[in-house]
Order: sequence, then structure tokens, then C-alpha cells
Amino acid sequence: MKVFIFHTPELIPTDSLPDCAIAIDVLRATSTISTALAAGAEAVQAFSSMDELMRVSEQWSPDRRLRAGERGGAKVEGCEMGNSPLACTPELVGGKRLFMSTTNGTRCLEKIQNAKTVLAAALINRAAIVKYLLSQQPETIWIAGSGWEGSYSLEDTVCAGAIVHALSDLAAKGQTLESLAGNDEAFAAVALYTQWQDRLVDLLCNATHGQRLLRLDCLDDLKYCAQLDTLDVLPIQRQLGVLVAHQE
Ligand code: MLT
Repeated sequence: MKVFIFHTPELIPTDSLPDCAIAIDVLRATSTISTALAAGAEAVQAFSSMDELMRVSEQWSPDRRLRAGERGGAKVEGCEMGNSPLACTPELVGGKRLFMSTTNGTRCLEKIQNAKTVLAAALINRAAIVKYLLSQQPETIWIAGSGWEGSYSLEDTVCAGAIVHALSDLAAKGQTLESLAGNDEAFAAVALYTQWQDRLVDLLCNATHGQRLLRLDCLDDLKYCAQLDTLDVLPIQRQLGVLVAHQE
């Protein structure tokens, strides 16, 4: 395994594809996707464009769909929900398809959608991601942070670092960080994670997008998204843009 980390969707190479690509948007798209699937959503279908989301979701009966739209951290008018993972209760999302469009996270998923395997990772499902990678041993892994409108996000990098840290700790046969890291970003992400691993809530509260969410009164979302390894769910792309919970 060789792991390459890209901090923003814009930095993802366009001239090649990895065996496995992982999108991260800790605040909050991939935390919400993981939570919705763990709560029994049938699938999450991701869109970069709100218009396209509306067009495709119209073809589904209202009792089988939920439209989740977020821009700038706030809910998009006309959608049943925004992008809070805490809204994803089994009562609300059970058996339904979430049609989801967010400022950066769903755009990141779209950028990697042609890889052989596409996963969505957050801090809350880090262990499930690591377990899957260790069992499948993909030769090349890209981990892409969603960032914020083209710029770097601390919370996505710390999550990428948490994944690589666990891989290098757990991988059998001497897979050290040095042998796993495909680029400099992988070393830096692990260093960020090891420095902040016991203070992830603080880190998220200090991050630019964390500050934005705090201004929108979303402290509970931050606390929820900062938890490590709390959900045993692996969101995996089943068809272009459609993520389901992987069944072993
Ligand atoms: C995004 O895609 O940028 C986010 O998930 C924003 C958010 O709702 O916190």
C-alpha cells in the first residue's frame, strides 16, 4: 500500500486513478453520510450541483427520498434537511435515499468517483476505513480532503493523518509510515494527528470552518464529528455518486 494525501479537490491528479480513493469532509459531509448510512438510510447520492440534485430526486417518490442541501454551512431552501449528522436519526432516514449536495464534500466525492473503489471517511468511522484497507490491501490509496472552496482544512488533514497513523501502527509485516507514505502530505498529516489526537474537539473548534459552524450555533455537531472510531460503517460507492453501507 502507498498512501497519497491531497488537501483539496483541486489538488487531486486528473491524469491517473488509484485503486482506492477516499473522500474526507469531517465538517461535515462525510460525517453525515456515515451517520445516515449507520442509521439505516438506503443510500446517499451525492451531487455537486443543487439543480441536478433537484432534477434527479424528483424522479423518486417523496416517501423514499430526503433532500439534504448545504451552502456556506446553512440549509438550502427547499430541502428537508441541511448537513447536520445529528439530524440523521433512524426515524428520519431509515429506508430512505438521501440526495445530498454540500459546498465542498460532495464536490470532492465527484472528483474521485472514477476510482476502482471509492470510500467516504470521517473521524467517527476511521476504524472501519482502516479495517477495510488492511483487508483489501489496495496498492495505491488517495485520501482527498474537501477543504473549503479550494483552501486547506485542518479537520480533513487530521482525519487523513488518523487513518495513516492507524495503518502504519496496525499493518502487518513492517508497514512503517516511511513505507506507506506516498507524498510529503502523508508525513505532515500524521504529525498533525499525533499532536492533536487527545484534543480533537479543540482542533475542530479552532479550524476556520469550525469557527464558521460555531457562529451558526453548531457546537454539538463539532463535538459529534470530533469523536474517533464511534461508528462501524463503511460508506462505499456502489454506482457513480451513490454510496451505500458496505456489507461484509
Ligand atoms: C461542505 O461540504 O463544505 C461541508 O460539509 C459544509 C458543512 O455543512 O459543514
